[in-house]
Amino acid sequence: MKREDYRKRKSEGIPFAMVTCYDFPLARLLDEVGIEMIFVGDSLGTNVLGYGDVREVTVADMRHHLRAVRRGVRKGDVVVDLPFGSYGTPSLAVDTAAGFSMDGADLIKLEGGMTVLPQVRALVDEGHRVIAHLGYQPQFHEEGEPIVCGRSEEEVSDLLETALAFDQAGAEMVLLECVTERVAGMVTGRLSIPTIGIGSGNRCDGQVLVLHDLLGINKVGYRFVRQYAALADEIKRAAAEFRDDVAERSFPGEGEWFNSPQGLVD
Ligand code: KIV
Repeated sequence: MKREDYRKRKSEGIPFAMVTCYDFPLARLLDEVGIEMIFVGDSLGTNVLGYGDVREVTVADMRHHLRAVRRGVRKGDVVVDLPFGSYGTPSLAVDTAAGFSMDGADLIKLEGGMTVLPQVRALVDEGHRVIAHLGYQPQFHEEGEPIVCGRSEEEVSDLLETALAFDQAGAEMVLLECVTERVAGMVTGRLSIPTIGIGSGNRCDGQVLVLHDLLGINKVGYRFVRQYAALADEIKRAAAEFRDDVAERSFPGEGEWFNSPQGLVD
């Protein structure tokens, strides 16, 4: 969808869905059911690559998976995260985003709050469609700091001021992670651009979930995740059944192999 289409959806109160994705087959399935935004998040690191922290994710990791997702998406928009360390200055952000655009990204997302306003302006000037990620920001979060944002007056006014600044700077959307429901609703009402929420209640213009949470591949207990499937159990059941069938020589069975013409072998 174009920028104007998302804004129209906001004005008409028709929400849109965004789901993280890191590979070709799942991107194709998400696209086939009409998920509007298919998002190569830096959660790639923890969900797929086995890293301990999203800060370990490199630009090369992101590009590899972005290209795979792009090959699976025909209708939706492909969104990609700028990984930690790849957008410290406006020109670095523009260089990284240029590579991602070559790989087929439609929109670029970045964390960092007010400190990355110059990066957002530079990206918009280069013609990139930008999503600014506010609230809980995994790339910059330090152990022990609160996760939920919007519980003090100071946090609320900082968040609103930052979101309005991104709106004025030409960002296409603002993503609100773990912002209290009332505050996310208030920010959504004040911005001209759509908000996408995760753990931020039901008043945002769109909603995003991590695919591995939604499918129940991750056994997470976040209160804001709704699990629509229990794939971890299903995958383990299927793999264990295969293991047992092999052990008992019940796989492969009659009809699950090729026959040679009579007399060709013994
Ligand atoms: O990388 C990611 O998965 C994200 C979502 C949690 C929004 O940034």
